[in-house]
Amino acid sequence: MSTPAQVRARVEWLRREIERHNRLYYVLDAPEIPDVEFDSLFRELQALEAAHPALTSPDSPTQRVGAPVQGGLAPVAHAVPMLSLNNALSEQEVAAFDRRVREALGVDVVEYAAEPKFDGLAVSLTYERGRLAVGATRGDGYAGEDVTANLRTLPSVPLVLAAMQGAPALLEVRGEVIMLKRDFASLNAQQRSRGEKEFVNPRNAAAGALRQLDPRITAGRRLRFLAYGIARFEGTGMPAERHSRQMEWLESLHLPASPRRQVVRGLDGLLAYYAQTGTARASLPYEIDGVVYKVDDLAQQRRLGYVSRAPRFAVAHKFPAEEAVTEVLDIGVQVGRTGALTPVARLRPVFVGGVTVTNATLHNEDEVRRKDVRVGDTVVVRRAGDVIPEVVRILPEERPAHAREFRMPTHCPVCGSAVRRGEDEAVARCTAGLFCPAQRKQALLHFASRRAMDIEGLGEKLVDQLVQSGRVRSPTDIYRLEAADLAGMDRMGEKSAANLAAAIAASRAPSLARFVYALGIRNVGESTARDLARSFGDIGTLLQADAQRLLQVPDVGPVVARSIAEFFGEPHNRQVVKELLGLGVAPRMEVVAAGATSSPLQGRTFVLTGTLSSMSRDEAKARIEAAGGKVSGSVSKKTDYVVAGADPGSKYDKAVSLSLRILDEAGLLELLQANSPEVKS
Ligand code: IVH
Repeated sequence: MSTPAQVRARVEWLRREIERHNRLYYVLDAPEIPDVEFDSLFRELQALEAAHPALTSPDSPTQRVGAPVQGGLAPVAHAVPMLSLNNALSEQEVAAFDRRVREALGVDVVEYAAEPKFDGLAVSLTYERGRLAVGATRGDGYAGEDVTANLRTLPSVPLVLAAMQGAPALLEVRGEVIMLKRDFASLNAQQRSRGEKEFVNPRNAAAGALRQLDPRITAGRRLRFLAYGIARFEGTGMPAERHSRQMEWLESLHLPASPRRQVVRGLDGLLAYYAQTGTARASLPYEIDGVVYKVDDLAQQRRLGYVSRAPRFAVAHKFPAEEAVTEVLDIGVQVGRTGALTPVARLRPVFVGGVTVTNATLHNEDEVRRKDVRVGDTVVVRRAGDVIPEVVRILPEERPAHAREFRMPTHCPVCGSAVRRGEDEAVARCTAGLFCPAQRKQALLHFASRRAMDIEGLGEKLVDQLVQSGRVRSPTDIYRLEAADLAGMDRMGEKSAANLAAAIAASRAPSLARFVYALGIRNVGESTARDLARSFGDIGTLLQADAQRLLQVPDVGPVVARSIAEFFGEPHNRQVVKELLGLGVAPRMEVVAAGATSSPLQGRTFVLTGTLSSMSRDEAKARIEAAGGKVSGSVSKKTDYVVAGADPGSKYDKAVSLSLRILDEAGLLELLQANSPEVKS
């Protein structure tokens, strides 16, 4: 059995390791291990702490989520007020800022630290002797709310600073709490599926999450922290000359900061940084509403000082608004690939987020009702990055007397067929299937799209012409097109016709997964298509599968199974597949070990100890070997994983003393599953 010293060492190692992986994942965006392995480390630490209560510590990663606070969030006075920044909305205003700074300092050129302006909410984190002591919101700038318990749940917030030579007696860091765009999207998807209210934007969602009385709610919302400055410091070791050096120092303490910081010279440098950040904006994982320029030299900052509530040494250069107000001229309906009818607001053209917007999606009928959008209404529209513009809300006080409610048409506006809406479905659909030209067109575009059959050059304009002229009615017709057909199309030169013909020819050998995805079966996205390809191996077998057999495919539930069975039950669809094969389309099956080089099992050595409940030792060994791993009988420094079942033996203790990775049975199963052969697509 392990000695108390060994257990303590293991616990400490696990804590460091878990926080290191938290940082790799949440701060550096460069995870080193799969989630299952992280979970396994976490569970091991929880188990050891439960078995040895004397070892529990408030700094343990298992203690990030605490109990709900009673009686509301307590007020916290800010020792140094949390001020705001003056805004610059044009190049002229930035030029004026730079001129004022140069004149006040009596210099020709100023060096600035330029940073993104994060669109979240300001917080202050106070570390006492290296330990997170207080976390507070900005409030009115002089007093905020105590949200320490909530901030502790953010994996990007260190509970203990990684101080090299002794922790500072006091460090107060200022920064912004944000929600990543992708976390915002999944939060809203979850709200939708639960029938709960969606959040308007990531900032509101982050603010709501941070001000919860129950830290468990905050923990579930995946907030992040990004530091942008230091408010107070007592101790030694902090750089005192430049803001940019202080930011690097914060990073060395494992306080996260934006990697997009840059030190630039003069007005030209500022404007170049602004342009470059504006271009990158849509592809950043979080929302920013501008950039911030700060005089980099801290002595110069002190000389410039403050005017009323804002520093003279810094300015926020804002991006054009992503929201704008306009009028709904009409509400039309668009017919999609699966026949879904999407209401679309036709808008009085408005400039928002750098482009002129004339249409905005209203998603579906219920959404139109929920937002109560009517023709004639004045609305707030939003365009974030590259996403389709949407109507955020109406301005009720602006509603005219003649405002007209939207009704979903009973017949398809494109082909006139009946429109139906399933009982528990949000979406109304045209029932004509591929007989509807709108659906046919979308189906063809999907079939040819990059992630499906990847026919380059077969875009919207061309498909429009091909469908309208009747030359292409189904995907099979694509493979019957002749060079002469193509050359006859509008704006199609000889060269592009030849390129397109070559692209069509090249698309005849897709992977089975792409082929299945290209068919456009409802509820079958890329990942389900991959699962199906992996599970059936060839199209003939898939065609034959009934719902029962389909349910055996991982991640295929009753709804998806029904969609697939219905699709292949339709003689027309079977005919299309048969004809495609007849025309020389030959989906190929390509089995490769998942990520051959980065597979978590490939070439790794496992040692098994204790009893597994779901399989025998021999079975476990066979499965590990099938996935490319090795199983050894004894533990050494070279062992990669020790799998510990119930009542593990001395191999477990040895693994602990060598600080090896220990997996429980669930961890092994997940690892095996994550590693099952994948269809390359
Ligand atoms: S520096 C004296 N840097 O913008 C204030 N602020 O209007 C110093 N913000 O409340 C603030 N990103 O929450 C600074 N890189 C950044 C920022 C940033 C976002 C927020 C901050 C502040 C507001 C100022």
